[in-house]
Amino acid sequence: MSDRLPQEADRRRTFAIISHPDAGKTTLTENLLLAGGAIRAAGEVAARGERRRTTSDWMKIERDRGISVSASVMTFEHNNKVYNLLDTPGHEDFSEDTYRTLTAADCAIMVLDAAKGIEPQTLKLFEVCRLRDIPIVTFINKIDREALDPLELLDEIQDQLQLDTAPLFWPAASGQRFGGMLDLRSGDFLHYSRRTAETGVQPGMSPRVRLEEVKNQLDASAVEELEEGAALAKEILPAIDPVAFLEGHMTPVIFGTALRHFGVGELLACLEEFAPAPRPQVAKSKDTPITLQRNDQDVSGFVFKIQANMDPNHRDRVAFLRLCSGEFRRGMKLKTAAGKQVNVHNPLMFLAQDRGIAETAYAGDVIGVPNHGQLRVGDSLSVQGNIRFAGIPNFAPEILRRARPRDPMKAKHLRKALESLAEEGVTQLFKPTIGSDMIVGAVGNLQIDVMAERMVNEYGLDVVFEPAPYNLARWIQCDDPSKLEAFIEKNKSATGIDLDGAPVYLGKNAWEVGYAAEKNPDLRFTETRERLLEA
Ligand code: G4P
Repeated sequence: MSDRLPQEADRRRTFAIISHPDAGKTTLTENLLLAGGAIRAAGEVAARGERRRTTSDWMKIERDRGISVSASVMTFEHNNKVYNLLDTPGHEDFSEDTYRTLTAADCAIMVLDAAKGIEPQTLKLFEVCRLRDIPIVTFINKIDREALDPLELLDEIQDQLQLDTAPLFWPAASGQRFGGMLDLRSGDFLHYSRRTAETGVQPGMSPRVRLEEVKNQLDASAVEELEEGAALAKEILPAIDPVAFLEGHMTPVIFGTALRHFGVGELLACLEEFAPAPRPQVAKSKDTPITLQRNDQDVSGFVFKIQANMDPNHRDRVAFLRLCSGEFRRGMKLKTAAGKQVNVHNPLMFLAQDRGIAETAYAGDVIGVPNHGQLRVGDSLSVQGNIRFAGIPNFAPEILRRARPRDPMKAKHLRKALESLAEEGVTQLFKPTIGSDMIVGAVGNLQIDVMAERMVNEYGLDVVFEPAPYNLARWIQCDDPSKLEAFIEKNKSATGIDLDGAPVYLGKNAWEVGYAAEKNPDLRFTETRERLLEA
């Protein structure tokens, strides 16, 4: 093993951006890549999207709806740190996919719209981060528009998220009067000028001056608000405590406008200063709990996403593997905990502008492993095949549909396609105990639409998704297998199995589930199931 391992692993920073749709995630992503030097001109991310769309039919749905469906990874290097930005889909129907992506992040940027504060989707995503103790940096965007009072925004974060806020900067008003922001730690003033923004400032750090030097160029009321607000913030709000941040109790806050490149360089500097190197990961080796450190010699990682047909010329799937330890080298043979061997000849790296082949990779990095369906979401990979990371949960679907091919001769073909998409984690697939129905489960309607589109484009199948006789699915668990068996025997018309053969209860409504739970106190009806595929 090379001596580069500790130093390479220490400089990785793997993070995701969470936000409510429209808060500015896409704009911020692009500007972060600009500030980080990964792309040279605004619009390249979109251009890359265009290229992708022309080569991948199912992305049509993204174009039609103007949303981003597939999570991807973008890697860039800046100031001797390697950043892996995991792009999470913004639409709420994709919360499950987003959840999985967040399991692979060590840190998150929460983007808020300065005029709106915390919105429903921000809250949901934040809860996922909290479940995983992921530290959060807050970026309050769109300060170039009329915003809520900064103290009010911070109060909202404190009250709704129970997160202490430590502003690193304080804005001089907002909207038309916005003049820049004061660095609360150094006392420097970052002067914002609309004129330079519009004529295209070089993205990156804003020039720093003393407030006194530019006071006369600013709106008098904005200066007053800044001086009062900053003094109050210093008095009543805590200074940033890196330990509290890493434990997920405190968030550093930066104000800015992604669209006008202001505050983005500072956000990147904040990541550089505070974001953690790849965090230790809890796993099991055989049945013994272990903690893997980024500098451990053995290569290990877990699959958090599968994407099929990224390249329509090759029917391959790409498994996104988040590395947790060791120095990965191209051509390595890795094993799942079930002993399946995967030879990683052509691992993909996802650079901001393009895809390339990864020669080496370290903890925190995400590599794409092309495979023919051997790998599943939640799989652990290691050299010995002796490591198993905690499972990635499946969530109970909120929509169930019966899938039927228009051409009845294609039933077998359809089952294969549905299984393949379920393995990818797009949707879930249930097989009722009685009959040959194929019941598809999704967290949102959009997933069903994406699936229908992919059925046509990728599998040449015309499929009808009709209402199912059930509306709810819950996994059934019981410590006593004979009681579980007896329950299934008695409830053949309301039970089935999922893709992994785990028993599920298929109910018409919540009342039915409640009733079944009440009558069968030894059974647990759960809304999530950790896939311990390899157990
Ligand atoms: P999302 O990915 O979170 O959904 O948000 P996105 O970046 O697409 O931004 C949503 C809208 O907000 C876009 O406007 C974008 O230009 C605007 N926006 C983002 N950041 C800022 C900012 O700092 N200030 C201002 N004033 N606007 C911002 P749009 O009109 O919906 O789209 P477009 O036509 O500009 O692309």
